[in-house]
Amino acid sequence: MSDDIVVVKNLRKQFGTQEVLKGIDFVARRNETTVIIGGSGAGKTTLLRHIVALEKPTSGEIYIDGQNIVPLSERQLNDIRRKFGVVYQYAALLDSINVFDNIAFPLVEHTKLKKSEIRDRVMEKLHILGLDASAAKKFPAELSGGMRKRVGLARALMLEPKILVYDEPTSGLDPLTSRLVDDLIEQMRERFGVTSIVISHDIASCFRIAHKAVLLINGQVAACGSPRELATNAGEVAREFIEKSGVNVNGITPVGG
Ligand SMILES: Nc1ncnc2c1ncn2[C@@H]1O[C@H](COP(=O)(O)OP(=O)(O)OP(=O)(O)O)[C@@H](O)[C@H]1O
Ligand SMILES: [Mg+2]
Repeated sequence: MSDDIVVVKNLRKQFGTQEVLKGIDFVARRNETTVIIGGSGAGKTTLLRHIVALEKPTSGEIYIDGQNIVPLSERQLNDIRRKFGVVYQYAALLDSINVFDNIAFPLVEHTKLKKSEIRDRVMEKLHILGLDASAAKKFPAELSGGMRKRVGLARALMLEPKILVYDEPTSGLDPLTSRLVDDLIEQMRERFGVTSIVISHDIASCFRIAHKAVLLINGQVAACGSPRELATNAGEVAREFIEKSGVNVNGITPVGG
């Protein structure tokens, strides 16, 4: 089994006349956290959508667990999609059903588990994420931002994915809650042995959780390496991007130690 669980080679994507991804090479290693940073419109979400098999490239190759997914049929792609748990930016919860039903949703949709088994699994995940039984009865509108993230994460974990993908997990959260989400991302990796791929605008978060950071600028990889390398010796563009964030990266301790 290769250490590289996601490998993207010379990926190009064009929407109409606009080329959004201009020959991306990207690798995520098994059981590590890879963070994709970059300005607005750089192509981060588009890259992520290709990795989770929701988008077909114009050209290039995408290997998931050693298998090139680009030529696969829609039915085969559905199996690939099951390898991923996706935590969306605004948690994307269904507002008309309560927390319990939101988290149970993937199991109801994709498995034939009995009601009692589904209940046990939902309560287990709630517990792991520090939410109690009373939270299960709440509706999404009654939750704080941090709780929504936890519920979104619990739901993403239900089908026990190999790879957890997060689009801007800390955006819109206060600094303290953001740090709690960083800790959660690290805990999920340790506890379930998942690989994490995280899109972030939050340089502090990147320095806390990333084994590797990939800087995307205008549809191209401008730099790649450990956050420290990006801040010091991965070239002027990366150093400048990090400096402009205004975050004092020297004062940050990585969560994994
Ligand atoms: N389905 C689509 N059809 C046409 N253009 C698209 C589509 N998806 C993305 N784009 C364009 O691709 C570019 C990159 O978008 P993308 O959402 O990947 O950026 P991003 O790096 O995630 O930005 P942000 O940080 O603001 O979320 C944008 O110019 C966007 O308008
Ligand atoms: Mg985006």
